[in-house]
Amino acid sequence: MAVETIIVGAGGRGYGYGKFGVEYPRELDVVGVAEPDELRRERAVTAHDIAPDMIFNDWQSLIASGEKKSATILNCTMDRLHFESTMKMLEAGYDVLLEKPMSPVLYENIKLVQRAEEQGRLLQVCHVLRYSPFWQKLREVIDSGVLGRIVSVTHAENLVYWHMAHSFVRGQWRNEATSGPMLLSKCCHDFDILYWLLRKKVISLSSFGSLTHFRPENAPIDAPKRCTDGCPAAETCKYEATKLYVSDKNDWPYNAVTIIPSAAARLEELKTGWYGRCVYHCDNDVVDHQVVNMELEDGTSVTLTMNGQGDEECRTMRYDGTQATLYGKFSSSGNEIRIHHHLTGKIENIPVVDRDHSGHGGGDFGIVRSFVNAVNGTPDDSITTARESLESHLLAFAAEESRHNKTLINMEEYRQRVEQEARNFQF
Ligand SMILES: NC(=O)c1ccc[n+]([C@@H]2O[C@H](COP(=O)([O-])OP(=O)(O)OC[C@H]3O[C@@H](n4cnc5c(N)ncnc54)[C@H](O)[C@@H]3O)[C@@H](O)[C@H]2O)c1
Repeated sequence: MAVETIIVGAGGRGYGYGKFGVEYPRELDVVGVAEPDELRRERAVTAHDIAPDMIFNDWQSLIASGEKKSATILNCTMDRLHFESTMKMLEAGYDVLLEKPMSPVLYENIKLVQRAEEQGRLLQVCHVLRYSPFWQKLREVIDSGVLGRIVSVTHAENLVYWHMAHSFVRGQWRNEATSGPMLLSKCCHDFDILYWLLRKKVISLSSFGSLTHFRPENAPIDAPKRCTDGCPAAETCKYEATKLYVSDKNDWPYNAVTIIPSAAARLEELKTGWYGRCVYHCDNDVVDHQVVNMELEDGTSVTLTMNGQGDEECRTMRYDGTQATLYGKFSSSGNEIRIHHHLTGKIENIPVVDRDHSGHGGGDFGIVRSFVNAVNGTPDDSITTARESLESHLLAFAAEESRHNKTLINMEEYRQRVEQEARNFQF
C-alpha cells in the first residue's frame, strides 16, 4: 500500500518531492496539499488530483481542521516556519519528512528532536546527499579500507556565482532574520555527509568567513537599485538580472521568479520582485564565503570550504589516506571518484551509476523512498533520523559561534552547554 501524504508548502521542494508520487504511485500517494500561494496550490492539486476537502490554504488550517488526515506530511515550508508547524504535526500524530535545516534557531532543533522522540514519531530531515549513488559509492570506497587510515580531508561546497546571488543575495536565504546563517542553510548537508562518511564526531572546530563582495561599496558607478532601471553596467555585470532570468524555461531558477513559464511574465516580475534587484543593493547580510577547520575524535583533520564565486556548481573533495589519495567531484555536469594508489602509482576511476534523474544526483527521490520505507517499518541503511541530523546542525551553529567570537570551540563542551541551555529556553 502506498504511504499517504500531504504536501505542506508546495513550492520548489514540495512540488519536486511530489513528483516521486507521480512516478511511483505504489509507494507514495499525495492526498492533500496546504499552500497559501494559489498558483502553486493549484499546480499541486492538478498534479495529484487532490480532493476538495484535502486542499488547505496553509499548515495552520490543516492542523485546525481536526482529525489526522494521512499517515505523513512532507513539510517543505521555509526555514522559519519549520519549528512551530512541525511541533504541531508531531503532536497531531503525523510522521514528518522535514526540509533542512530543521530550524535556524539553535534550541528549536533540540526541542524538535526531543518532541519527536517523546511522541514516538518518525521525524526525518531532508539530508538528501546520503541517498545519491555518488555519496553511497564514496562511503563504500572509504569503508573498504582501500585508502588506508584517512588522515586528512579537504571538502568544498562550490556555489556557481549566479546561485550564490540567486539564493543568498537576492533570494530566500539572504538574511539571517528571515532564514538563517548561510553555513546552516547550505552546509548542514556537508556536515551531515562528512559525519556519515567518516563515522567520527568532531571534537574541536574553528571558522572564518564574511560578507565581502555583495556590499553597496562594490556596486558599479551609478548602478540603480534594479537591473531593469537602465544600469550602465548591464553589459559587463555577470549578475545582470534580465540575462539571468528572462526565459520561458520551466525549471529552477527561472520558476523561482514566477512559475508562469513565459519570458514576458519573468521580465515583469523582475521590475518589482526580489530577483530584479542589483546584487550590491539588497538587504542581504549572510556571508559570501566561509571556511571551517575540524579535528575529529580519532585525530583526522577536516576542512570544509564554502565558495560563493564558483565557475561551476559542484562539491569537490580530497581524502588523503595512508595507502591512497581519493579525489572526488559531485556535479550535475558529471561525477568523478578517482583513487591514486601510493605504492603502485596506479590511478583507478570508480564508476558511479545514476539511479534516477531527480535532484541532488538522485538524492531527492532517494530520501522520499527512504522515508516511505521507514514509515512502512523497513528502514534502510542510509536512514537519517532527526537525532542524527542534529549533529550537523550543531556543527554549523558552533562554527558560527567561532566565526563571530574568533574562538576555538570544544564540541563536547558545546553539545553539553546547548542541551542545558535548551532546557531553560522559553519556546
Ligand atoms: N534538501 C535540500 O537540498 C534543499 C534545497 C533547497 C531548499 N531546501 C529547503 O526546503 C524548504 C523550502 O524551500 P523551497 O525552495 O521549496 O521554498 P519555496 O518558497 O519555493 O516553498 C515554500 C512554500 O511554502 C509556502 N508557505 C508559506 N507559508 C506557508 C504556510 N503557512 N503553510 C503552508 N505553506 C506555506 C510558500 O508559499 C511556498 O510555496 C526550505 O526550508 C529550504 O531551506 C532544501
